[in-house]
Amino acid sequence: MTDTTYNKIIIAIDGFSSSGKSTMARSLAAKIGYRYIDSGAMYRAVTLYAMRHGMISEEGIADARTLISALPQISVDFKVMPDGSQHTLLCGEDVETAIRKLDVSSNVSQVAAIPEIRHALVAMQQAMGKEKGIVMDGRDIGTTVFPDAELKIFVDASAQTRAQRRFTEMLAKGAEVNFEDILANVVHRDHIDQTREESPLRCADDALHLDNSTLTPEEQDNWLMERFKATIAHTSVK
Ligand code: DC
Repeated sequence: MTDTTYNKIIIAIDGFSSSGKSTMARSLAAKIGYRYIDSGAMYRAVTLYAMRHGMISEEGIADARTLISALPQISVDFKVMPDGSQHTLLCGEDVETAIRKLDVSSNVSQVAAIPEIRHALVAMQQAMGKEKGIVMDGRDIGTTVFPDAELKIFVDASAQTRAQRRFTEMLAKGAEVNFEDILANVVHRDHIDQTREESPLRCADDALHLDNSTLTPEEQDNWLMERFKATIAHTSVK
């Protein structure tokens, strides 16, 4: 049930890939009538653009300069579907399925490590949060995008657990995948996300830490809702 009488705050949810943060962020946003933004989808959309324009080769990103100069032509937006789900639009095209494929997953960390790309997407994300009433998930939301967010969560789970979740999810979608490839991709992305120079993935000092390795989605949702209510009770902004 949507209750839009809540105060409008910013909720920043960061964490490792496949930690379940998007599911919990989306679910909370729907329950409290907030806008949900998957910032990872924005990095994925820019990566898809780079791949389609031949800027990424087997060896990695071949042409960062050209990608940076193409930024003014790359628009990334979201569309709410009739069933309430959100689809990512790249220059107006619905790319929701394409950006979730393994080829994009394998290239996205390199694109997300380019400072100019980050600056452009962070500015877009900050504009989306201007009116507050937003739940955004990613890697640097509590540290860089919204350092003053009223509620910050950092979600964690072991690499094995996260790879298993992604594997199950992709099998359910009918994808032909190999568990070892998925695990290698998760470990590789963790490494790049944590060691890049620009806004590396880290837990903000004032974030609440959640290890959800042994929690069911429902337990996780309840945990987050409690934190939200406690934060709202102590927040006077409207
Ligand atoms: O959450 P995800 O797996 O869809 O994110 C895709 C990639 O984008 C991941 O490698 C990390 C990067 N990312 C980032 O650097 N900063 C964000 N705020 C969100 C995602």
